Amino acid sequence: GLTAAVLSSFLFSASHAFAACDEDEIVIKFSHVVAAEGHPKGEMASALADRVNAEMNGTACMQVFPSSQLFDDNQVMEALLLGDVQLAAPSLSKFEAYTLKYRVFDLPFVFSNMDAVTAFTEGKKGQELLGAMSDYGFVGLGYLFNGLKQFSANRPLIVPDDAKGLRFRVQPSDVAVAMVEAMGGTAQKLAFKDVFEALQMGVVDGQENTWSNIYTQRFFEVQDGTTETNHQLLAYLAVTSREWLNSLDEDVRNQFMTIFTEVSEDYNARSNAINEDSKQSIIENGGVVRALTLDQRDDWITIMKPVWDMFRDDIGADVIDAAIASNK
Ligand code: LMR
Repeated sequence: GLTAAVLSSFLFSASHAFAACDEDEIVIKFSHVVAAEGHPKGEMASALADRVNAEMNGTACMQVFPSSQLFDDNQVMEALLLGDVQLAAPSLSKFEAYTLKYRVFDLPFVFSNMDAVTAFTEGKKGQELLGAMSDYGFVGLGYLFNGLKQFSANRPLIVPDDAKGLRFRVQPSDVAVAMVEAMGGTAQKLAFKDVFEALQMGVVDGQENTWSNIYTQRFFEVQDGTTETNHQLLAYLAVTSREWLNSLDEDVRNQFMTIFTEVSEDYNARSNAINEDSKQSIIENGGVVRALTLDQRDDWITIMKPVWDMFRDDIGADVIDAAIASNK
């Protein structure tokens, strides 16, 4: 449980999405690890809370805890089952303890753009995957998008050989580890909240993330530059516990799900623009951004794509085929 002192410090750092809940309202706590502003997930969470608090006032109340204030992604799944929070949205790379199927989202270069991601997640396989963790009592409410990821390091990365011998921070994903090893680098799994310091102190040489994470976490300030590889997806599963969802009256659950679906579709459609803005902000703030020629990008594809075969059995060939087919 939280002590009163900790609780009141959250109240004082309250953002507009932090509503005071009435005693008889259903409290929906949404814990996440990213910035509340300038980030597709952070902004989605705030917008969701604003709508729940306006439209479900008297029935339900949502409080958002951004920036790993409450839990990091590794702790939040347990917190959902304990009822300490009701909603979380870890990246799809962070569920390996519960399912290996989500490895499809991590395959390098499997999605050529966010339209392909939309087609896959809205399609039959994508919808089936929402239920991949039901044995553990979790329900996937839907996918939240960030964008495609870029590589940064403490030296310029133009050809994959430039990454040889470097240590990269990765999410807790074996696909990401295999990908970095295919580049001749070493991978280190670290919690998101520890990445800036690890880069700054030289614990790792580089990292891979979206423009919005690289900008809002200021990774670009402690890196030589960022290379526009667009090599891999970063998206999230909005997840809750079945026990909590089932505890809601049907009309309350339906109203909440309608609001959730509308807000997530809205922010998923905006995710590209938010990441483009972040990329511009990095450049305006003195960060170096390097583009690749098509030939150079092909070299990265050639090096990384063999990783797919290592995970085909975990994911299922049918799921991989559906992901490939979503690129039109
Ligand atoms: C990361 O750990 O790099 C991301 O999953 C963080 C996030 O939630 O965007």
